[in-house]
Amino acid sequence: MSEFEKNPPLTHVAIIMDGNGRWAKKRLLPRVAGHNAGMMAMKEIVRRSAELGIKYLTVYAFSTENWKRSDEEVGGIFRLLVKYVDSELAEITKNNVRVRVMGDYSPVPAPARESLEKALETTADNDGLVFTIALNYGSRAEITRAVKSIAKDVKSGVIAPEDVTEQLISSRLYTGEENGNIPDPDLIIRTSGEERLSNFMLWQSAYSELEFTDVLWPDFTPEVFEKMLEEYGHRERRFGGRK
Ligand code: FPP
Repeated sequence: MSEFEKNPPLTHVAIIMDGNGRWAKKRLLPRVAGHNAGMMAMKEIVRRSAELGIKYLTVYAFSTENWKRSDEEVGGIFRLLVKYVDSELAEITKNNVRVRVMGDYSPVPAPARESLEKALETTADNDGLVFTIALNYGSRAEITRAVKSIAKDVKSGVIAPEDVTEQLISSRLYTGEENGNIPDPDLIIRTSGEERLSNFMLWQSAYSELEFTDVLWPDFTPEVFEKMLEEYGHRERRFGGRK
């Protein structure tokens, strides 16, 4: 049994990787250099999560709002995605990691989309760590999409209004059936001193523990990660019930 199957259970860790821009600014580097350093940090966290026996790791890589950034920055982030898959796919596959995507990645530039599809296909049979990349993801858009899909089924008579349950709504989110039913995150970490969810997993985070650190994402090491997991181990989770 892995250390994290104990009490409180730690099955799913989600991370809002924030602070790449500030990391670059401090060094008088272009923002894309910050994202590059952020990608390296992400690699190490994926590796360590697999080693630790964590079952699900989800990262917020690109939000529905991130399109507002300059073409140079947006293009740079997607080129990094191609670079990540090129350099890491073999290792990820060897480590039994399964890559999943959460979000509508159809508007993503073709090379990045193709890299993603390659990663999804190559790792489809792996049953170790499920590494989910939130890409062009926004929680409100996700909930809206789920509601539309349920509304269609109600209209066509496939389901009755009384059949609309929390479980049904969960099953129509990106974390639902289309991605093999990813459980709700036990822990959500946000780096860089910002303390908000920014449209990330709003439905799924109902009972998640939240942890924040001032460390900027490119400086987030496996050691910092493990300290935060240790802190989680001291939390008492009640899920709305009594002690
Ligand atoms: C937030 O920092 C980070 C992002 C919007 C992009 C995250 C991307 C990576 C970690 C690297 C690439 C990985 C993949 C999978 C493509 P920010 O730019 O908002 O930082 P700031 O708040 O300091 O400006």
